[in-house]
Amino acid sequence: MRTRHALQLACVAALLAAGCTHLRMGLFVLKDNPREDDPASISQGRAAFEANCAQCHGERADGHGPLAATLPVLPTDFTAPGYHKSTNRISGHIAYGKGDAMPAFINALPENTIWDIGNYLHSLQKPETEHS
Ligand code: HEC
Repeated sequence: MRTRHALQLACVAALLAAGCTHLRMGLFVLKDNPREDDPASISQGRAAFEANCAQCHGERADGHGPLAATLPVLPTDFTAPGYHKSTNRISGHIAYGKGDAMPAFINALPENTIWDIGNYLHSLQKPETEHS
C-alpha cells in the first residue's frame, strides 16, 4: 500500500512538474523581448551560442555539432529554409528545453543572454515566401 501511495505521489509530482514547465514556457513566450532594440544583441547571442550550444547544434547552427550523432533526436537546424519561428518561441525553448534531448537553460544562463541567442537564431531565418 505504501509503495502504491508513493508511486501515485510520484506520478502527481511528475504531472505537476511537466504542467508547470509548459505553463512557465507559455508565460515566458508572452514576455516582451527585452533585447530587441540593442544592436549588440545578435553578436552577443552568437558568441553565447558558440560557447553553449554549438557542441550539439553546430557552429553554423545547422544541427551538425560534434555531439549530434550521439543524441536520440537530431538537433534543430536553424538555417533550414523551412524553419520559421518567432524569437519568443525560440527563446522559450532555450529557457525551458524541448523533449528529452534539449536541455533547459533558464538556470544556466542570464535571461538577457537567452534573448540574445533567440535574436541571433531568429536572424538566421530565410524570409518566408509564398511558396515555402
Ligand atoms: C545536448 C545537446 C544540446 C545542447 C547543448 C543544446 N541543444 Fe538545443 N536542441 C537539441 C536537440 C536534440 C533538439 C531537438 C529536440 C526535439 O525536437 O525534440 C534541440 C532543440 C532546440 C530548440 C527548439 C527548436 C524548435 O523550434 O523546435 C531550440 C530553440 C534550441 N534547441 C536552442 C538551443 C540553444 C540556444 C542552446 C544553447 C544555449 C542549445 N539548444 C543547446 C540539443 C541540444
